[in-house]
Amino acid sequence: MSHLWSGRFEGDPDAALVEFGSSFRFDRRLFEDDVRGSLAWAEALERAGVLNAADAAAIAGGLRDLLARGADPAFFDSPAARQDEDVHAFVERELVQRVGEAGRRLHTGRSRNEQVALDMRLYLRRRVPGLERAIASLVEVLAHQAGRAGGALMPSYTHLRRAQPVLAAHFFLAHAAAFRRDHRRLAAVLTDIDELPLGSGAIAGTSYPIDVGWLARRLGFSGVVANSIDATGDRDFVAAFLHACALAMVHVSRLAEDLILFTSEEFGFFDLADTAATGSSLMPQKKNPDPLELVRGKAGRVIGRLAGWLATMKGLPIGYSKDLQEDKEALFDAEDTLAASLEAAASVLRGITLDERAAGRAASGLLLATDVADYLVAKRVPFRDAHEIVGALVRRLLREGRSFEDLSLEEWRRHSGLFEADVEAAVTAAASVARKRTPQSTNPDAVASALEEVRGWLAGLKE
Ligand code: ARG
Repeated sequence: MSHLWSGRFEGDPDAALVEFGSSFRFDRRLFEDDVRGSLAWAEALERAGVLNAADAAAIAGGLRDLLARGADPAFFDSPAARQDEDVHAFVERELVQRVGEAGRRLHTGRSRNEQVALDMRLYLRRRVPGLERAIASLVEVLAHQAGRAGGALMPSYTHLRRAQPVLAAHFFLAHAAAFRRDHRRLAAVLTDIDELPLGSGAIAGTSYPIDVGWLARRLGFSGVVANSIDATGDRDFVAAFLHACALAMVHVSRLAEDLILFTSEEFGFFDLADTAATGSSLMPQKKNPDPLELVRGKAGRVIGRLAGWLATMKGLPIGYSKDLQEDKEALFDAEDTLAASLEAAASVLRGITLDERAAGRAASGLLLATDVADYLVAKRVPFRDAHEIVGALVRRLLREGRSFEDLSLEEWRRHSGLFEADVEAAVTAAASVARKRTPQSTNPDAVASALEEVRGWLAGLKE
């Protein structure tokens, strides 16, 4: 059996080690990118006078034929393909099989080191938009739920203790805000990869007069890498992509966790659709949020891909080392896991229903304590003093197992003579959210504008 590098060696390499080093099982995913890169490279070679027109045409014809064949998965599973070291070897062998000697000229002045750096960039450029769309779909479902929630109230939590009343819509839009950042972060990866690595050769550059500026434009890059040594060993963009995926998974996981909690018997603010839950083989009453738990679990795995990849890179001398081949499984797995998790989360979220009464009930009571303090502040009591007065009142109510709404005016006034009949109306969840003033707050008008803004963003993406 022969390899792309057999000439230097006497006899065949150890079969088990060849198998250990081969990446075709997973890097076949770069097939389309590899062929497109080679098509452009052949044109650049012709422009540089390295390939004659006949050879260039033969190569282009052969590569186009390969692209067409690539639609059939069986193409990658022939006995010969099973022996190929990587996708580059596969493409070259198939090309030579079709066009003979011309195919053997394609690799002139080029190295797999820069080729794989190019393929990874082209792959991400082709695939990141799909993840961006999946994130946007999830934001769309969050916006839909925010719209459906209308003016419904629920408690917000800090330290997982009831904090202040908020609109349920505000809660949904909070998650949407995090996913908007993920969308931006993925878009930034597309900027990171926007430089052509070809022309770097194996490490020192190429000795042929390749017009890399033309080649960059031909392949849709805005520019060319600055340094060939750096370019062949640089996978920062893989780390950036993994980071974007890991953080997006953290956000899907936090959304999953909120939904797991809030659909539980203990909270009961939302109900899971039957289609989004599973039962127990033993306990007939159970309705388990398995898909959400899996999403939460898979976040750990994508974080691991990022951490693992950073660990792989940290010890590498500058330039290409075979360790870099480990980038692919990390990247593909992170991509697949994020895509599947976004879709699962969107599907579960689409089916949840708000129990307005349960959520509203939980949004009133002692979590209105800040509003009581604000009432006193409005009557010129310094906030610290108001805090103490209300603290004492809360302590008493807790002792008596009561809440603000059970207090008579007389009882209110025992804690401060400033309380008047209007305190009852001031201390409700609805009054609390209405009193908020800032644009990022849970004030109903602010939330309505925020929802409009999200819808505008979504509409802008579709244009
Ligand atoms: N399969 C290799 C990778 O993914 C391609 C580059 C191989 N280059 C080399 N000199 N062995 O990194």
